[in-house]
Amino acid sequence: MDKLIIEGKARLKGEVSVSGAKNSVLPILAATLLTDEECRIENCPNLRDTHTMIKLLRSLGKNAELNKNTITVTSKGKTNYIADYKLVSTMRGSFCVLGPLLAKLKMARVSLPGGCIIGVRPVDLHLKGMRALGAKINVQGGYVEAKANSLKGNHIYLGGIFGSSVLATANVMMAASLAKGKTTIESAACEPELVDLANFLNKMGAKIKGQGSPKLEIEGVKELHGTEYNVIPDRIEAGTFLILSAITRGDITIKDVCWEHLSAIIDKLEEAGFVIEKTDPPDCRAGCKIQLRVKRKINPVNVTTLPYPGFPTDLQSQFMTLMAVTPGVSVITEKVFPDRFIHIAELNRMGAKIMREGASAIIEGVKQLSAAPVMASDLRASAALVLAGLVAKGRTEISRIYHLERGYENLDEKLTNLGARVWREKE
Ligand code: UD1
Repeated sequence: MDKLIIEGKARLKGEVSVSGAKNSVLPILAATLLTDEECRIENCPNLRDTHTMIKLLRSLGKNAELNKNTITVTSKGKTNYIADYKLVSTMRGSFCVLGPLLAKLKMARVSLPGGCIIGVRPVDLHLKGMRALGAKINVQGGYVEAKANSLKGNHIYLGGIFGSSVLATANVMMAASLAKGKTTIESAACEPELVDLANFLNKMGAKIKGQGSPKLEIEGVKELHGTEYNVIPDRIEAGTFLILSAITRGDITIKDVCWEHLSAIIDKLEEAGFVIEKTDPPDCRAGCKIQLRVKRKINPVNVTTLPYPGFPTDLQSQFMTLMAVTPGVSVITEKVFPDRFIHIAELNRMGAKIMREGASAIIEGVKQLSAAPVMASDLRASAALVLAGLVAKGRTEISRIYHLERGYENLDEKLTNLGARVWREKE
């Protein structure tokens, strides 16, 4: 296992490019199960999670190869309907093979993903959606067993106690694409990655309308076909680089960004006092450039995470690091995963003053963090610790950084190119 060493307080300068969106590529790869024809997916980030999904597709009977940033998926013969615990338990995104397997094979046996460090993470909305389409669901031995003679379109309300669900929307959208008749999903998640998935499915021949809104209308089709597709930029990686630029007061240009997907984070950074300059892209795939400047005093701001277009929970911990070094008091409230606060203890080990109060964190900004050995606990919390290490005085050691590799492509290389002093050592 590797640990990451960061020598803090380097001046960061230069250009950094954003990779393809992890949360797009995972359901898009699952959607390739809906056809026996070849799919070519471009701009795929080379991440641990991408490799886990490739392994899962192979275990289900597909050929899947990653070459540079393109994944080609073809069929080898019969598709297997069992998604094994070993793969699904390591990555919750794997659970979105349920909809495609059920739609294509009329049966699926998919391991329950289980809880994780950021909370309990139930799958009731996924199962509600599959039942509404006519599937019989049995949960047994840690697996979801789903069967249907045929799936039929229906009117489905997919809101849960924490609002919409990204992967439940993905699962139902994929299953409904091959169901008989029309499906309407209300309280659908509106995340850009779901728009990307719907666009991919439509290129395969699906008939989906309303993507990006809470009401999706899906006219089922008899079959879907192979296609080529280019994945959108990762807005969470882009947001992390924006916060990096803010926290280090660096001179960083972030390339290959779709800034329309970053409105909530840009709004909060502007409220804090940063100025964000951006080039106007003709469309989000044209890859705009974005730069953050400091022109006045920076103030603490309060943030509440919400489903898109609200402030993303996946940037909550990174923004907390920024607030931890912004003098004054701020409150960050988590409304998507109310237990996603494991990073507080580690940030406090580096001299931050953060107190948890239910689903909120109260942050008293300090002038300076100090380096300490810390432990990465999940993907985004690891990014928060990297940001902390980059502004801390001294040498920070972050252990268990395999979490980072789940969602940030070549992060240490990208940071080194910006002038950061970051390297790996064996633990
Ligand atoms: C996806 C993202 C993850 C992001 C999250 C919220 C992927 C691969 N992962 O995860 O990075 O942090 O969206 O933006 O795209 N819930 C239920 N019942 C369900 C499903 C979810 O109550 O059946 C709850 C969850 O516990 C959570 C909330 O709904 O409190 C939102 O979760 P959800 O949108 O489903 O997250 P994921 O799709 O798993």
